[in-house]
Formats: sequence, C-alpha cells, structure tokens
Amino acid sequence: MAENAKERLIRYLQDAHAAETGIDDVIKGFIDDTDDPNIKAVFQQHRIETQSQAQRLEARLKALGADPSGGKGFLNMVLARMSEIMHGAHDEYDKNTQNLIKAYSIEHLERGMYESLIAYSSVVGDDVTAALGRQIQAEEEATAQKLFPLIQQYAKTALAGTEGLAGNRIAYTA
Ligand SMILES: [Fe+2]
Repeated sequence: MAENAKERLIRYLQDAHAAETGIDDVIKGFIDDTDDPNIKAVFQQHRIETQSQAQRLEARLKALGADPSGGKGFLNMVLARMSEIMHGAHDEYDKNTQNLIKAYSIEHLERGMYESLIAYSSVVGDDVTAALGRQIQAEEEATAQKLFPLIQQYAKTALAGTEGLAGNRIAYTA
C-alpha cells in the first residue's frame, strides 16, 4: 500500500532527523581528526547547533504522533560514501582543509534537503513543519558562510608543511 501524504511527511522528517544525527557523528570525527584548537572550536559549535536541529525535528515528529525512525535516509547514504574517503588526506594540512571542504559541502546537502522538506510540507498544508524547515535551512546557510573563509585560510597553512622557506613563492619560468 502506498504511503499517504502525512506518512510521507513523517518519513521526510525522520530522514532529516537521521541526517542531523549522522552529521553530528561526522563532525565529531572532524574534531577528533585535528589538533588545531580553532578548527576544534568551530566544529564544537557546529555540533551544538546540529544537536539542537535534531531535537527540534524530533519534537515535530512527536507532535505529529511519530518518532525518529533510527533508519538511514538518502543524505546518510551520501555521508557514508563521504566518510569512506575520510582518512585519505596526504598530511595534517590537507586534512584540515579537506574536512572544512567536506563540512561546507554537508551544509549544502542539508540546504537542498530542507528545500525539499519546505516545499513538500507547504504543499500538504503543514505550515509548522515548513517554518521549522526554513529556520533550520537558514542556520545551515549561516554555518556554510562561516566555514567558507576558513577553507582559504587553512589552504594557505599548507605552505608551512613544504620544504624550503615559508612564504616562498614558486618560481615559474614559462
Ligand atoms: Fe544541520
């Protein structure tokens, strides 16, 4: 039997909740993966926000008479693939930069996921879920904007891990 409109909405909320829970684990991995106190602090803040998002989604599920599914949604499958390349970095410098790139891309995966939740909940007349989706989506966008300048900042630190003097420019001859 096909799911009805409300069951589908609940499944989307469960998927979003599962995504936030999975992302919390991924960010925890990023924190454990670095010795840089600045990156640790940024990701710790990010975890607090992600956990709050999961709690708000759970509260909405409960209000609709449902619970988190404990299952895995579409976004979790994408995350799982991403974590397969988690330990592929060449060195500490690349690792920091690559984890920032991954975190930045996760925010955009979430942004897309909430866009679909907002659209579907609006069209079925659940304005409360749509408003929650918009609120969380705005938080993902704000986090992405905070992460973006860190990518270039940490990419530049890679020079310290090369031979020769820091600050050297490559002498191109062509
Ligand atoms: Fe999130």
